[in-house]
Amino acid sequence: MKVTVIGSGNMGSGFVKQLKKAGHDVRVTGRNAEKAQQLAAQHGARAVSATEAAASDVLILATGYDDAVPALKALGALDGKVVVDVTNPLTADYMGLTVGHTTSAAEEIAKAVPNAHVVKAFNTVFASVLAEGASLGGGKTVPVFVASDDAPAKATVSEIARSIGFDVVGAGALKNARYLEPLAGLNIYLGYGAGLGTNIAPAWLRQG
Ligand SMILES: NC(=O)c1ccc[n+]([C@@H]2O[C@H](COP(=O)([O-])OP(=O)(O)OC[C@H]3O[C@@H](n4cnc5c(N)ncnc54)[C@H](OP(=O)(O)O)[C@@H]3O)[C@@H](O)[C@H]2O)c1
Repeated sequence: MKVTVIGSGNMGSGFVKQLKKAGHDVRVTGRNAEKAQQLAAQHGARAVSATEAAASDVLILATGYDDAVPALKALGALDGKVVVDVTNPLTADYMGLTVGHTTSAAEEIAKAVPNAHVVKAFNTVFASVLAEGASLGGGKTVPVFVASDDAPAKATVSEIARSIGFDVVGAGALKNARYLEPLAGLNIYLGYGAGLGTNIAPAWLRQG
C-alpha cells in the first residue's frame, strides 16, 4: 500500500521502519527535510515534500497534536484520503489531556479536514513498542484500537496494522477517540509515572 508518514520523530521512525519491512510503498515528510531524508535513507523509504505527500492513499499523522492540523493543511486537498491519527493531546508535562469528554483530538482533526477519512489508531502504542514490534513474547501481541466513522478507511487501517504484526480491536466510531486518548494517558502514566517502562501496552481480555 502507498503510505506517507507525516513526521520523522519517535512514532514516525517506527512507522517507516515497520511499514517498509512489511513491503509497503513508504514515503515520509517532515518539517525538517534533512531529518526526513535521513530516516527514509535508513529504511529504504522515500522522503517527499508536503505537496508530494498527498499522492498517497494513506497518511499517517505522527506529529504532536498542536502541529497536526497545520501539517495536514500543508499537504493541500485531502479528499478521500485515509488519515491515521496517532496523536494524543497531551499537556506539557504529559500527565494530562488538553481536550476530552465532549470531543477528542481525532474529532477536532476530522473537523479541520472534512473531506478526508480520519481513523484513530496506534495512539495507545508506545513508540518503542512500535519500533521493536508488536510481539511482546509469551504469545502476547499488542492490539491497536481502531475507531472511525468510515468503514472502508477503518478496514484499510486495520489491514495496515495487521500487516506490521499488530492485533486489531475495532473500537467503533471516531467519537470513541474520547476514550482512546485517556487510555493512552493511563498508559503514559503507567509507563513513566508509575515506572513500568515503555515496553507495555493496554489490551482487552475476554473470559473463556
Ligand atoms: N512517543 C510515543 O510513544 C507515542 C505513542 C503514541 C502516540 N504518540 C503520539 O504521536 C505523536 C508523535 O509523537 P512522537 O513521540 O513521535 O513526537 P516527536 O518525536 O516530537 O515527533 C513529532 C514529529 O512531527 C514533526 N512535525 C511537526 N510539525 C510538522 C509539520 N507541519 N509537518 C511535518 N512534520 C511535522 C516534527 O518535525 P521536526 O522534527 O522537524 O520538529 C517531528 O518529527 C504525538 O501526537 C504523540 O502524542 C506518541
